[in-house]
Amino acid sequence: MSEMADEKSTAAGMSGKRIDGSPSPRFAVSMAYFERAAKVIPGGIYGSKSPGFLVPGHFPYYLSRAQGSRIYDADGNEFIDYLCGYGSQIVGYGNPAVDGQALEQARRGDLLNQPHPAMVELAERLVGLVEDMDWAVFVKNGTDATTLATSIARADTGKQVIVAAEGAYHGAANWCSTNVFPVFMQAEQRDVRFFPYNDVQALEALFAANKGHVACVILTPYHHPTYRPQQLPTPEFTAAAERLCRAEGAYLIVDDIRANFRLDMRGSHRFFGIHPDMVTMGKALANGYPISVLLGTDGLRKTASSFFITGTYWMSAVPMIAALATLGEMERLGGTARLAELGRTLKEGLESLGKEAGFRARVSGPLAIPYLTFDEDSDLYLNQRFCAAMADRGVFMHPHHNWFISLAHTEEDIARTLEAAQGAFRELGSSSSLAAERP
Ligand SMILES: Cc1ncc(COP(=O)(O)O)c(C=O)c1O
Repeated sequence: MSEMADEKSTAAGMSGKRIDGSPSPRFAVSMAYFERAAKVIPGGIYGSKSPGFLVPGHFPYYLSRAQGSRIYDADGNEFIDYLCGYGSQIVGYGNPAVDGQALEQARRGDLLNQPHPAMVELAERLVGLVEDMDWAVFVKNGTDATTLATSIARADTGKQVIVAAEGAYHGAANWCSTNVFPVFMQAEQRDVRFFPYNDVQALEALFAANKGHVACVILTPYHHPTYRPQQLPTPEFTAAAERLCRAEGAYLIVDDIRANFRLDMRGSHRFFGIHPDMVTMGKALANGYPISVLLGTDGLRKTASSFFITGTYWMSAVPMIAALATLGEMERLGGTARLAELGRTLKEGLESLGKEAGFRARVSGPLAIPYLTFDEDSDLYLNQRFCAAMADRGVFMHPHHNWFISLAHTEEDIARTLEAAQGAFRELGSSSSLAAERP
């Protein structure tokens, strides 16, 4: 986020007023912490967690604890949560099997001089599970994995250009972040070229214009831009990406950090029939314990082996133990089929309630990773109003970022969510002055 955006977000957060301008005593503790934070932390809360990215006055700024599908804020308010720690919670907050094994290892030792044997077990498990992948290296954040993937592609090909889709998020490093400072445009971002997702002609034109220079194409398995409806890939598009990469001698990277195991336990590339050379996974890999992974094919093993890959915390044992336990829990709790079933009930319910209230509300993306937008809402104002009304009713749905279903969500949670949605849509429908209200 730029300095100006940061300032705006701090100002929005400081007011703490609800959309209608009234005070919000419900978040008094959150607000008090935010005022203290603004003095010692740039922006108070930065990046995608900043108040400007939420709806101030309707959302808490600080959370104290979570259990299953519920989060509890610093004021003690409870919410059914559909952000799931930005996707990291796949078997639910505080899953006893995951936390039990992780905490036991924490007592025995987490960050050791050498890796724990669990690293081998996890690599074997992932290579056996994730389709077409032959090796795995573990890092911390998703950004570490995508940066490593593009670096290995560059090192292997001796070429510079990275091709990516417009609006796709691959992390916060200078080569891929939304920081638009000229100094980065002249250096790390200089050789990153963009095309509109699913646009075969634009992709072909990019390859033609950069012939002999493309090291890799990095794609999310489906398009999940911020602020916009999600888009599934067309078979023509993924086939073209593969064909163009092969012809150019470039590598195809599927950045599966966000979807991870929510679509298919063999990776989202399997779900969409894509054949990548490298896959990045993170977020839900260890149900919130910090670990991401870069997986690759045999052709890249030599380059990956000669690449200096390291980070002080990258081989800590606890997240690896947690990742193994998470995979076990995924299977035990019904896996991707169960996530899709819950997501279908939510999607169908929201769309039909929206229609009943006279809105063109649409849930886009895969069933387990839904996102609601209104076709008549070009500036997302309705969306903000809807998510604010849901938060007022104890349901945390993000207005600008896709949502996530976890295996801790229940039919009862979805029913309560739809009950709240009925009230929220009615509130929006009855607000005759919506147009006048827009800022
Ligand atoms: C597709 C994708 N790639 C990379 C990242 C970066 O991951 P991290 O925030 O862990 O660095 C994200 C995070 O949202 C993501 O969704």
